[in-house]
Amino acid sequence: MRVLLDETELNDGVHRLADEIDQFYGSRHPLTVIAVMTGSLVLFADLIRRLSMPQRVGVVQASSYRGGTVSGELHVDSQMMIDVAGKDVLLVDDIFDTGRTLDRLKTMMFEECGASSIKTAVLLHKQRAHCVELRPDFVAFEIPDEFVVGYGLDYLDMYRNLPYLAVLEPDEIAATAAEQQR
Ligand code: IMP
Ligand code: MG
Repeated sequence: MRVLLDETELNDGVHRLADEIDQFYGSRHPLTVIAVMTGSLVLFADLIRRLSMPQRVGVVQASSYRGGTVSGELHVDSQMMIDVAGKDVLLVDDIFDTGRTLDRLKTMMFEECGASSIKTAVLLHKQRAHCVELRPDFVAFEIPDEFVVGYGLDYLDMYRNLPYLAVLEPDEIAATAAEQQR
């Protein structure tokens, strides 16, 4: 695996992200922060402890990979969502790839849940053609269009625990898939 961002770089990036969000909202502005599970798990835990405003914290589950490395049909499970009606919401995800996940969740937060404002924050922004007009409001890192794992990001739910971010090369993807089928 080729390391793209090591622990120190990730740590600095999350610091910068938190500072930007703090500056935008101010340290007294109550915020409802929602983690898009499961990829944002590690980022989320680090980020919310660095934000200085009072926060309500919740999660929503979204999955689009369904075992592959290319975005597929999006499934959203909002059973664990907290009430966001009339609240200022920050959606936190690991990566902005096609953009469909955050686009769909943002629409859902407005139309179905009645949030009063919604911003989006991601650790990674993949440099590729996105499928939606939405762009994330806060981004820690721009990365090339490669498949990455670690710091919450997975392939077949593996590698989320790695403390660094690495590119999973095609032969490693194939080997992981084969290993998981045994
Ligand atoms: P989007 O809807 O295409 O923007 O995809 C966003 C979701 O796809 C992210 O929340 C990730 O869970 C997943 N994803 C996209 N690119 C990668 C990658 O390179 N590695 C692991 N997961 C990814
Ligand atoms: Mg995800």
